[in-house]
Amino acid sequence: MKILFLNGPNLNMLGIREPDIYGRQTYAALEDTIRAACDARNVECEIFQSNHEGVLVDMIQSAYRVVDAIVINPAAYTHTSVAILDALKAVALPAVEVHLSDISAREAFRQISYAGMACEKTYAGYGFDGYIMAIDYLLDKYGKS
Ligand code: DQA
Repeated sequence: MKILFLNGPNLNMLGIREPDIYGRQTYAALEDTIRAACDARNVECEIFQSNHEGVLVDMIQSAYRVVDAIVINPAAYTHTSVAILDALKAVALPAVEVHLSDISAREAFRQISYAGMACEKTYAGYGFDGYIMAIDYLLDKYGKS
């Protein structure tokens, strides 16, 4: 099984940005966590971060017929991007939404998730573990091994 992990704007600033909300671990540590979890489960992974909406749309499109599933933390684009929603719908791959923080307990503007409308599952508020939960969900449902 091959999973594409997409991370949106400012997640490259993990460890520096609002540590009380997002924790003190760096983006490199997040990548290491995802890679280790995938290796342990015999899952192939590609991990990508961008601060640009169109680049994330391009990455989703390029996943078509190339990967088996997408795990996406669209970060701030979660709450604004119809383009990312449409791209996820276009490729129609199994997709899981992850947020480090519990967006349901935060500001009103974070209560809507456009990307989430194209995802079959959301894990929010579990920190890095949310990504591992997403992998296990996808493996359970779509695993080939
Ligand atoms: C986030 C939550 C978003 O509301 C925010 O804009 C982010 C990160 C999270 O992982 O908790 O940048 O997606």
